[in-house]
Amino acid sequence: MKKTKRAKKSRTWVIKQHRDQFFKKAKVLGYRSRAAFKLLELNKKFNFIKSNSNLLDIGATPGGWSQVASKMVIRGKILAVDILPMEKIKNVNFINGDFLEETTQQQIKNIFQKKIDVIISDMAENTTGNKSIDSIRTNNLCAEVIKFSINHLDINGVLVCKLFMGDDFILVKDLAKKNFKTVEFFKPESSRSESKETYIFCSTLKSL
Ligand SMILES: C[S@@+](CC[C@H](N)C(=O)[O-])C[C@H]1O[C@@H](n2cnc3c(N)ncnc32)[C@H](O)[C@@H]1O
Repeated sequence: MKKTKRAKKSRTWVIKQHRDQFFKKAKVLGYRSRAAFKLLELNKKFNFIKSNSNLLDIGATPGGWSQVASKMVIRGKILAVDILPMEKIKNVNFINGDFLEETTQQQIKNIFQKKIDVIISDMAENTTGNKSIDSIRTNNLCAEVIKFSINHLDINGVLVCKLFMGDDFILVKDLAKKNFKTVEFFKPESSRSESKETYIFCSTLKSL
C-alpha cells in the first residue's frame, strides 16, 4: 500500500474512533447527541451555567445541550429554539422556528420578559461539502446570535456560540470584541480535531 493511502486510512480510523467513543458514551449516559459533551466541556472551562440561570439554547435539536442545561438549571428558565422539531425535555420550553425570523425572536422576548443570563448556540447550516461556503453560512448565524445578544443578554450575561475558523472568522471575532469585554475561543476535545469548528465565549457587554 502506498504511504499516502495508508496515512489516509489511518486518519479515517482515528476520526471514526473519536466519533464512536463519544457516540457510545452519549448512549450510555442517555444523551441524545454527542454534542452534549461539548457543552459539558465548555461549562467546565468557563463555569457559566448556574442553578438560577435564564438560558436560551439556539439550534437545540436533537437536544443534547438542553439535556445538559436541564440537569443544571433548577430555579431558572430554559428555552430551546430550532427550525426542526425536538422531543420534549423536562423543564425545557421549546419554540419550533427559524431563529433568523423576527416572529421567532419576538416569541423568545415574550417568553423571557427580561434580559437573558446565558445564550448558547450550536446552530449550524446544513453542510454543502464546500468548506469555505459552509464556514461563511454558519459564521453568519453566529453573527446574528451576537447581534441578538447585544439587545437581549443581561449586561453580565454570557454568550457561547459555535463558529468555524474560516476566512470570515475575523469578522465575527471583531463584532464580538466590539461589544463584549471578554472574548475567548475554545475547542472542546469532543469536537473532531479535523473540523474547523470552535466556540466563542463572550461575557460582560460593553455599555453603549
Ligand atoms: C449541530 S445541531 C445542534 C445540536 C444540539 N446542540 C444538541 O446538543 O443536540 C445544529 C442545529 O441548528 C439548527 N439550525 C440551523 N439553522 C437554524 C435556524 N436558522 N434557526 C433555528 N435552528 C437552526 C439545525 O436545525 C440543527 O438542529
